[in-house]
Amino acid sequence: MPAGSWPRLALATLVLAAAPAIAYQPAVNFQLQCMGCHHADGAGEDGRVPSVRGTLVPFSSFPEGRDFVMRVPGVAQAPLADADVAALLNWMARNLSDVPLPADFADYTASEVAAARHRPLPAVRTLRQQLLARIGR
Ligand code: HEC
Repeated sequence: MPAGSWPRLALATLVLAAAPAIAYQPAVNFQLQCMGCHHADGAGEDGRVPSVRGTLVPFSSFPEGRDFVMRVPGVAQAPLADADVAALLNWMARNLSDVPLPADFADYTASEVAAARHRPLPAVRTLRQQLLARIGR
């Protein structure tokens, strides 16, 4: 190998090593843990899994909505660390939403997820209907 190839090889290795941890991890977690139900674009499945495209961002803007998002079974019981759940929700809000992110969007945090996710959510469907009414859907 010509001597000049080494710096480029080293750079490629650095980029490959750094990329998954920084940019791709929430997307991969979504594929592994959520996509089977929510589909690649978050649109879900009629009658079985709701679309998050019009709900996640509006729900995230008030306390009861955020609480719901962090406590639905798919989120609360995901085999992911609290910080990874927070990063995943923040990634979804930016990548799987038809509703643009408001300027004052508050990112989910690991401690917020930790405090919410272990409290089981009773009457998920009824609560969801009430929250939908609050966001005008
Ligand atoms: C087994 C299917 C399934 C899996 C897997 C799943 N979800 Fe869900 N998700 C649902 C259903 C169904 C709802 C509606 C609330 C309910 O009935 O639990 C929902 C609701 C939600 C909501 C609230 C949005 C709304 O409109 O209700 C969010 C956010 C969400 N899921 C994110 C996730 C994330 C993130 C993952 C992966 C870590 C995930 N879900 C995995 C089925 C699933």
